[in-house]
Amino acid sequence: MRLAVLLSGRGSNFAAIHQAIVERKLDAEIIRVISNRPDAIGLARARRLGLSAHLVDHRAFPTREAHEEEVLRIIAQSEPDFICLAGYMRLLSPAFIAAYPHRIINIHPSLLPAFPGVDAQAQAVAYGVRISGCTVHFVDENVDGGPIIVQRAVEVRDNDSADSLAARILEHEHIAYVDALIKLATRSWRVAGRRVMFE
Ligand code: GRF
Repeated sequence: MRLAVLLSGRGSNFAAIHQAIVERKLDAEIIRVISNRPDAIGLARARRLGLSAHLVDHRAFPTREAHEEEVLRIIAQSEPDFICLAGYMRLLSPAFIAAYPHRIINIHPSLLPAFPGVDAQAQAVAYGVRISGCTVHFVDENVDGGPIIVQRAVEVRDNDSADSLAARILEHEHIAYVDALIKLATRSWRVAGRRVMFE
């Protein structure tokens, strides 16, 4: 399974995927890492690991489309099976998404459809839910809205802040992302409406 990873920051989910590959839990190869930010820790980490790491700084392009075209060009060269968004803080255009139907995967730090968008952990704390978690899903044209591959539940504690909840959810994100990729790699699956069906 050939994976392209898009990230903008810390890159801990990317690191978890890479680690699972190193440990041979996941039979895959990360063939490209692309960051839109020069200061992304994930980009530095990818370089250190000797992966094919690319900076495509969105500020260097005149338009959103031009930036995306360059990202798509680098991805297309590598013929990935899946494009993994791992803290990639740019919205993808409908054209980008249509180019890779059910092949772009994202992780979101809530149990979707609850709390889509930014600051999902803070939204969960503010709302007062007792259980939150994370969701690995295919990307479609709706923000955080595509078919769900894997979810993990995380308890919200009385004394949780957005940060403490985020830290606990993050540990589950790393497991969930790897789980989702293992399932996609090892089982036959299809998408029926909103549902991802594994045989
Ligand atoms: C994670 O919380 C992920 O759910 C969200 O962005 C964060 C990325 O973290 N989409 P990292 O860069 O993988 O450490």
